[in-house]
Parts: sequence; structure tokens; C-alpha cells
Amino acid sequence: MANTVLVGAQWGDEGKGKIIDFLTGDADIVVRSQGGNNAGHTVIVGDKKYVLHLIPSGILRSSKMCVIGNGVVLDAMSFAEELRGLEKQKIKVTRKNLLISDCAHLTLPYHRALDAAREAAKGSGKIGTTGRGIGPTYSDKANRNGLRTGDLLDPQRFSEKLKARMDTANVELRALGAEELDFDEVNETYLAAAKMITPLIGETVIYLHEAVKAKKEILFEGAQGTFLDIDHGTYPFVTSSNTTSGGACTGSGVAPGRIDKVIGTMKAYTTRVGSGPFPTENDELGDFLHGLGREFGATTGRERRCGWFDAVATRFAAVVNGIDALAVTNVDGLDTHKKIKVCIAYKLGKKTLQYPPTDSELLEKCEPVYQEFPGWVKDTTKCKKWAQLPLNARKYLQAIAKLTGAKLGIVSVGPGRDQTIVL
Ligand code: GDP
Ligand code: IMO
Ligand code: MG
Repeated sequence: MANTVLVGAQWGDEGKGKIIDFLTGDADIVVRSQGGNNAGHTVIVGDKKYVLHLIPSGILRSSKMCVIGNGVVLDAMSFAEELRGLEKQKIKVTRKNLLISDCAHLTLPYHRALDAAREAAKGSGKIGTTGRGIGPTYSDKANRNGLRTGDLLDPQRFSEKLKARMDTANVELRALGAEELDFDEVNETYLAAAKMITPLIGETVIYLHEAVKAKKEILFEGAQGTFLDIDHGTYPFVTSSNTTSGGACTGSGVAPGRIDKVIGTMKAYTTRVGSGPFPTENDELGDFLHGLGREFGATTGRERRCGWFDAVATRFAAVVNGIDALAVTNVDGLDTHKKIKVCIAYKLGKKTLQYPPTDSELLEKCEPVYQEFPGWVKDTTKCKKWAQLPLNARKYLQAIAKLTGAKLGIVSVGPGRDQTIVL
């Protein structure tokens, strides 16, 4: 399989967790390199459902190694909760299957409080964040006043840095009309939660370098999606990390030349959570999918906004990520729909665009140009091979791959491991 980066090619929730879990069968190491517990990756194994936020989805297969890289932001309290949840589901996490970079930045309670207060201050212009403190954590990293997992290894040093940072965080919270946080309480509860993490903290760059040298196969599990990327997404309605393939390198210390393949995951339609432009949004399709019990957020439980497949967007995703192969998921979501639309271009005034404009306000004004496809109106969930898919489904998938400009590699027709077709 070689060293593979898997990214979301839309606005997140493309089914990355499911595809990573499937591919992990052939990998040695699964690495998360950006984002934090804003991610919610659902994996179904048999009759069990797992939702992973910070821990790579590879953890579900025993004998596989997982790494949380330097580019991730880690909330120790949320991490401890996730560990306890996995333990309840009989997944044991030790240093034998999880290593956390000592350079990963910590999300602290004031980051969450700041996230909420900054969102409230934005009023109707809010981003609709997951409320997990992601933006404030990455801002502290860029401001060079963040705390890192390595600081937890020396509790006294951690407390000193925490005290200094909390003094200024409280000033901002007060200015925003939010409640201040108590240093002693934060210090105590955070250090208590951190006890579950400290045994897992170590140096990950050289670890991965040695693994590459030993020809181990590494799988990079992207979080969020291309259009939530801080540089290439629909700014400011984005997350605060590089969700595109380059983020896998900076967020792990594995050099670009060591990456062999990029897989872009996308749904057979489009979804988005939170605010921001979404040209193909379609309430009727949303009602239809929600009516099937689908498209509710794995992290916040929010109803996802839904729309038709947007080939203008995925075409850009193919370019910016260097996508070699596509994994199209949730094909079965369209099984009962008689007519299916695909956006093949945008109209902006008199212009026809093949790529999305970089300015979100212009994107908001774009009108999708649709091509209509006949539905297949057949159950695909039991198809095991490409040839077993209904003809109209094959035609649809070939068309969206061609419009995107990348090869079709995987087709997913259900959440289970065995509902995956490799081409
Ligand atoms: P991620 O954040 O990209 O990992 O995606 P999420 O887990 O947030 O959301 C994807 C949802 O689709 C989850 O509920 C998955 O179990 C589900 N899923 C993934 N692939 C398929 C598929 O092919 N068919 C169906 N029915 N569900 C799928
Ligand atoms: P996975 O990995 C979908 C969205 C939020 C909001 C914006 C900023 O499961 O695909 P943040 O909390 O990151 O500051 O929120 O990004 N968002 C996601 N949407 N899937 C995700 O992760 C997301 N992570 C963040 O809804 O619009
Ligand atoms: Mg998700």
C-alpha cells in the first residue's frame, strides 16, 4: 500500500474513519497529524460502533501502531474520556499501540471558554465551530504562548506556564463578558486527566523516520476536509489547521518525498456542518437524507447541511491535495433517489467557473450548473464487486470521478468493513 495520506475532499465527515479502518488492514502505522477533538470519525466493526475524536482509527485493529503527531491539538480531558470509552469497549491503549508527540499543543479549558465567547461575540457571523477550543489552541501555537504535551512531563513547569497564560486568558474572557476560570481548579483537574497521557508521550519524528527506513507502511488519517483548510478552505468559515495533504507532512515530520499516494475521500453527495458558503446545498435532499436517519454529526450531533455532489469543489480538492485515487462513500444514500444532480460548473454573473473562487463572499454568489443523472433505484448495500453495482450507479461514479479529475479507487456502499469495493 506504501505511505498513503487520506484526506477529506469536501467539508469533513466524508467517511474518512471508515476508509482508514478498512485500509489499516494493510498498514503498519496510522498517524493523525492535524486537528483535534473537533473530528468525529465513525467506524463500524460488526455490530459495534466506535466514534474516534483524537485517537487514530487504526487503534481498533490490534497489532497496529498509532501515532498522534506534532500537528495535532490535544485536549487531555477529552482524551482521557476517549480512552475510558475505548476501554469500556475492550480496546486497550498502551504505549505499544499509541505514541503521542511531545510537541502536540494542548487544548486547555480556557481555549474552550474562549471558543464559546468568541463565537458568541460574532453573533450571526459566527463560524459554527464544534466548541472544542480548536481555534484558540492553534492561535496560541502561532502566538508562541501555547503549552505542549511535553510540558506535562514536568508538572511544575506546566503549572507555571499555565498560570502565566491563564492570567491573560482570563483578561480576554472578562472582556468578552464570559466567566473567568480558576487556576487551581484547572491545574488540578488537567494534571489529573494528564496522568493517562504522560506514559504515551514521546518523540515521534524519529520514530516515524525509522519506520519509513524499515519500509513500514504508514497511513495518514486526515481530519476535517479540504474546504475547512485554514489556507485553502472557505475562509473564515474553516477550521484552524491544514487539512489538505501537505498538513500530513508538517504535522508529523515525515518529508513530502516519503509520501507515495494521496487518497481523497468524498461522499456521493455533499454535507457540511457549521456556517459558510455551500453552493449545492439542497433542503429537499437534506430532508430526504435526515428522513433516512442519516447525516447527524458524530461530534456535536448537529444536523448536517446536505447538497448535491459538487464536482467544481472536488476538482479543486484533487488539485490542492494531489489526489491519486478517490474513495467515494455513502453511495447507498442515493439508492432510492430517482434523479441525481451533479454540479459541473458555477455561474458567477456572466462567467462560468471550473474552480471555486477563493473569496467566500463570491462563492456565496455562485450558482451551480447541474447535470442530471438517472438514479439506479436499487439496493447497493450488498454489492461486493464493481460489476455487481447497478449500471446507473457505475455510470454516476465514473462521471463524478472524471469530473473531479482523479481515478476511482474505492467505493463504499455501507458503514461496515465488508461494504467496501476496491477497484
Ligand atoms: P469522517 O469524519 O470523515 O470519519 O466521517 P463521519 O464518521 O463523521 O461520518 C460519516 C458517516 O457515514 C458515519 O456515520 C459512517 O459510519 C458513515 N459511512 C461511511 N461510509 C458509509 C457508506 O458507504 N454508507 C453508509 N450508509 N454509511 C457510511
Ligand atoms: P471530521 O474529521 C465536519 C467544522 C465546524 C465549523 C468549522 C470550524 O469529523 O471530518 P472548529 O471546531 O474546527 O473550529 O470548527 O469546522 N468542523 C467539522 N465539520 N467534520 C469535522 O471533522 C469538523 N471539524 C470541524 O463545524 O464549521
Ligand atoms: Mg466526522
